[in-house]
Amino acid sequence: MSKNAIIVIGANGAIAQAFIKEQRARYPNHPLITISRGNMPLLDDYHTHIECDYSEAQINLVAENIKASIQLSQSISIFNGQLHNGQFGPEKRLEDINERYLTWLLKTNTITPMLWLKAIGQHLTHQSACVITVLSARVASIDDNVLGGWYSYRASKAALNMAVKTASIELARRAKHCKCVLFHPGTTDSPLSKPFQNNVPEGKLFPPSFVAQQLSNLIDSREHNTLVDYIDWQGNRINW
Ligand SMILES: NC(=O)c1ccc[n+]([C@@H]2O[C@H](COP(=O)([O-])OP(=O)(O)OC[C@H]3O[C@@H](n4cnc5c(N)ncnc54)[C@H](OP(=O)(O)O)[C@@H]3O)[C@@H](O)[C@H]2O)c1
Repeated sequence: MSKNAIIVIGANGAIAQAFIKEQRARYPNHPLITISRGNMPLLDDYHTHIECDYSEAQINLVAENIKASIQLSQSISIFNGQLHNGQFGPEKRLEDINERYLTWLLKTNTITPMLWLKAIGQHLTHQSACVITVLSARVASIDDNVLGGWYSYRASKAALNMAVKTASIELARRAKHCKCVLFHPGTTDSPLSKPFQNNVPEGKLFPPSFVAQQLSNLIDSREHNTLVDYIDWQGNRINW
């Protein structure tokens, strides 16, 4: 049984990798479980890596295999999310909406994290006391949407926000010391933001290491109430 485990899902992303490094520096002897589509080198004897293709069956199996660690984890962080690939990118206007792109983003940004919430949630109890962080985005805010565009990404992350909000209501009944966080990292230097970095104002493109420190501070300082926090890298609340 892994007490105080740190569980990182989508571990090979740029922000996730920096977060793992930051967590290792803060908690060198805590069990670390990383999950990704691919392999990654083990950092030390306390580190376990699990490969997962993010199918529902594999997500359930992975969660079942680490259920004791989930139950007593200190943090579970879900980094999965995509924005573009060689073929598709964010829409500028209604005519750009494409079923395949929308379906891909809904799968990656909404369905995969929801399947993790389902698989994890059933192993959490009132004895659990973890912070469950899911990477969201400010553009998911319906109130703050003044620029328009980016239909699929906005919709997939807004749906994710609703799912995490709903999960937090249920967790209050079955794991009342678990805290859900929807986190906007700010524009961060990663493969996901690469094509959109030209218009970012000076000093507003964050290195993943900075975001990892901010996120770690925010996790450490969270009050374990049953409310979901939708916050940015500064800890400021974002309108729904
Ligand atoms: N970078 C930014 O400016 C920015 C801004 C706002 C929000 N975010 C959010 O932050 C999170 C991390 O992004 P990043 O910037 O670190 O980008 P990244 O380096 O491109 O990481 C991509 C993430 O998505 C996962 N992933 C890739 N393809 C997937 C698929 N087909 N199905 C499920 N998961 C898949 C990866 O997991 P594996 O370990 O399996 O590869 C990894 O966790 C995302 O949710 C993103 O939406 C980023």
